[in-house]
Amino acid sequence: MTTTVLVLNGPNLGRLGRREPQIYGTMTHADLRAHLVAAGEGLGLEVEVRQTDAEAEMIGWLHEAADNRIPVVINPAAWSHYSIAIADAVAQLEAPVIEVHLSNIARREEFRHHSVVSAYVTGTIIGLGFSGYDYALAHIAAMVDPDTEDPATRAQIRPGQVHSALGHFPQHPRGGVTISRTCRD
Ligand code: DQA
Repeated sequence: MTTTVLVLNGPNLGRLGRREPQIYGTMTHADLRAHLVAAGEGLGLEVEVRQTDAEAEMIGWLHEAADNRIPVVINPAAWSHYSIAIADAVAQLEAPVIEVHLSNIARREEFRHHSVVSAYVTGTIIGLGFSGYDYALAHIAAMVDPDTEDPATRAQIRPGQVHSALGHFPQHPRGGVTISRTCRD
């Protein structure tokens, strides 16, 4: 059985590739979508990638995920740092939810150090660039694996799953994203 996963990206992430490439890399949101859909297939996940600059739209998607118990990978972008409305919507999710940040927000401006969303997620991945999404999907695949009955085991990522999920996103040694190829390479 295929599990659906929603990957939800917040404001300004639609401008990936053009937006501060020294921080976020040169790959576009379309590249990210294509890569994650393909990575999901390898993990038995049907991945749907959405992006919005509108808070109300994001909250609607989170309600949809809550009502249907759909696992979520979310990069709330700037909303992470101040939106109690997004945090309240994330708090309603019952299936696994992983927060991802492309950049290492802990080593950037102080206002980025705290995420109001983090208290309500299963786990957070920061600073690993696009690979952070791969790790999040691998973890969700492990958690929802119907062949693994023990929840404690389910919560562990099996190394093989991570390797099969990992894409072609070279990482900057200090946590930034150094991306010179596209996922179509
Ligand atoms: C971000 C980090 C946020 O501080 C910023 O507002 C973003 C992107 C990241 O993925 O690194 O838009 O969430």
